[in-house]
Amino acid sequence: MKKTLLYVGMLCGLAACTNRPSQEAEMDKFVSRLINQMTLEEKIGQLNLPTVGFDVTGPRMSEAVEQKIKDGLVGGVFNTYTPDAVRKLQEMAVTQTRLHIPLLMGYDVIHGHRTIYPIPLGLAATWDTALIRRIAVAVADEASADGLHWTFSPMVDIARDPRWGRVSEGAGEDPYVGAEIAKAMVRGYEQGDLRKQNTLLSCIKHFALYGAAEAGRDYNTTDMSRLRMYNEYLPPYKAAVEAGASSVMTSFNEIDGVPATGNRWLLTDLLRRQWGFDGLVVTDYTAIAEMENHGVGNKAQVTELAINAGVDMDMVSEYFIDELPALVKAGRVKEAVIDAACRRILEAKYKLGLFDDPYRGVSKERAAAQIMNAEKLALSKEAAVKSIVLLKNDRHTLPLDASKKIAFIGPLVKDQRNLIGNWSAAGDWRQAVSLWSALENKFAGHTFLYAKGCNLIDDAALRDKLNPHGGEIVPDSRSPQQLLAEAVQTARRADVVVAVLGEPFGMSGEAASRTNLDLPATQQALLKALKETGKPVALVLMNGRPLTLQWEHDHLDAILETWYAGTRAGDAITDVLFGDANPSGKITMTYPLNVGQIPIYYNHKHTGRPFNDKEKYTSKYLDAGNEPLYPFGHGLSYTQFTYSAVQLSDTTLTAGGHITASVTLTNSGSRAGEEVVQLYICDRVGSITRPVKELKGFQKVALQPGESRQVDFALTPDLLKFYNADLQWTTEPGDFWVFIGGSSVTANKAVVLLQ
Ligand code: BGC
Repeated sequence: MKKTLLYVGMLCGLAACTNRPSQEAEMDKFVSRLINQMTLEEKIGQLNLPTVGFDVTGPRMSEAVEQKIKDGLVGGVFNTYTPDAVRKLQEMAVTQTRLHIPLLMGYDVIHGHRTIYPIPLGLAATWDTALIRRIAVAVADEASADGLHWTFSPMVDIARDPRWGRVSEGAGEDPYVGAEIAKAMVRGYEQGDLRKQNTLLSCIKHFALYGAAEAGRDYNTTDMSRLRMYNEYLPPYKAAVEAGASSVMTSFNEIDGVPATGNRWLLTDLLRRQWGFDGLVVTDYTAIAEMENHGVGNKAQVTELAINAGVDMDMVSEYFIDELPALVKAGRVKEAVIDAACRRILEAKYKLGLFDDPYRGVSKERAAAQIMNAEKLALSKEAAVKSIVLLKNDRHTLPLDASKKIAFIGPLVKDQRNLIGNWSAAGDWRQAVSLWSALENKFAGHTFLYAKGCNLIDDAALRDKLNPHGGEIVPDSRSPQQLLAEAVQTARRADVVVAVLGEPFGMSGEAASRTNLDLPATQQALLKALKETGKPVALVLMNGRPLTLQWEHDHLDAILETWYAGTRAGDAITDVLFGDANPSGKITMTYPLNVGQIPIYYNHKHTGRPFNDKEKYTSKYLDAGNEPLYPFGHGLSYTQFTYSAVQLSDTTLTAGGHITASVTLTNSGSRAGEEVVQLYICDRVGSITRPVKELKGFQKVALQPGESRQVDFALTPDLLKFYNADLQWTTEPGDFWVFIGGSSVTANKAVVLLQ
């Protein structure tokens, strides 16, 4: 072992040079020499990414996988972590294989590794890209200390359909917000230098358009015009590539009739040629094998499709190791294509410094110092506070006055299981702070009233679907009627009721599409009974997607969206409920009135027959309005913010120039607070139709009561560019409206002429 590591290390040690071109030349030399020594089978082995489970005893794998690792038929594994488990696997690779090539250790570290932060849709609601970047840095620190090299994050799929459960994993519906967050995450994970041991290789997923699955049904077909793709869906992927993401994951859906995993236009023409991506492309879980179900070929044919389309690494299918040797021998796949794929994987390992130190500085001591340390737990709480969105607040129902009698009612008041949400990686829900324990902690000696009120769900069939996947949903021994009666009695004794309700975490995330976005029926019945007591009711929601909340909005006094807020959820919610923190989150997905309005998003096009309630033949519904319940960008505060009219430094913008659009923002209420100031444009006339509004900038501004601040946005012709019918990225002269306000419905605007 020593000898080879020394040999590999000597080659790699040369890479410690300071300038990048020579570093790249060294990497090239190193990888070329290695590839020259590899057999075809060994090269193909590098393209194989099986999953290897993990439990307290260490890595859990079949003998077959263990043998494959030893035979050099595995390039990386995922789903295993901890210093011991990783060391065991890595030792196998570097001591027992012919060429001693280290493994790449991947994992779905989506919104935290052990310390869990709010779900990505909640993080997006912070509109705080500096915070999101700090979180990505902290996540990489923790996960790398636990032996990981590679996270399958960020998910940057634009999603306009809340029926799709995976909206919880992304940043919502807007390409601009999506792109800003994608960049922040990639930069945070990779820090521009993967040789730093506290970084992770990021992975942009799911390439591409996965969020546009028809009818919001997971894994379903997508079909869209190139114009919509380029202008509305691709920007976050492209921004993440430009920010230096080192890997890309293909998506499960088809594009133009060809599954993404076998789509050469997507993976080679667009990603590599047009965007210049030179990192590694991995498939999604068994996506190569699934192409057989898509109906585009048999095992050998789909394998050929994938590798020739531009896939480098096969996640779980093992079609590459099964089929590629024969395909190369038959001349269906060029060995140069295998070499190129293998090179990209070896380069990723090289950039991570794995040839120098396959263990990448992992030790139990480092893990103990980094995992869930005080700094990370504090960051988790900060993020949770900032992700919370006050959707409604009548008559100052919130913040609560602790001197009043407050009843906390609902199955999520004392719950821990759901707080860390789905895709919470190695997070342990037992370490999550429930709302009730946070209350006890903050108000020691104080008595709050409590009743469970109902089960999370009473639908046994749904429970049977959720529980095998960690649901832990156990019906209460009391009947629903008893639970309800107790809740009503408790509410009657209180001055104000806080109902803590939502979706069990398994109702959102992967393979968790819904056709009905109401709160579960049993929870609705509870809310109605609470309302009938005549007491003010504040609803605290925990959920992973926009829900349909029309009844709740019409009848309840306050609604606080808290997502699944992570390890410190209870502490954060308590601070917001009692006014120690002022909510500042704003939603990045539209909340529809009902599922019939879906897909609904703020940056839609004009129609030729705009909404007019008095005219029959206009674009509308007979049974509901066109407007959503809560628009994109909406979120209230305990204070009020007032905006001046938009001021422009000039009304004409010329090529190469810029002008400034400003507002004066005033905190006209009585509490300190933060406001997300949003800049939108509307291109009045175009060679193709243009959206009614497009977000082009945002700033989060903190103001003391009575304080005013001028908020400036630079407008440049670049900001007004779009892809025209020939897919050229261009500006067109003419009038633009420039809006600045507190949500996407702002009418605060000025006109700019682009010359
Ligand atoms: C998901 C990916 C994930 C992968 C590996 C797939 O089912 O679509 O997002 O990264 O599994 O766990």
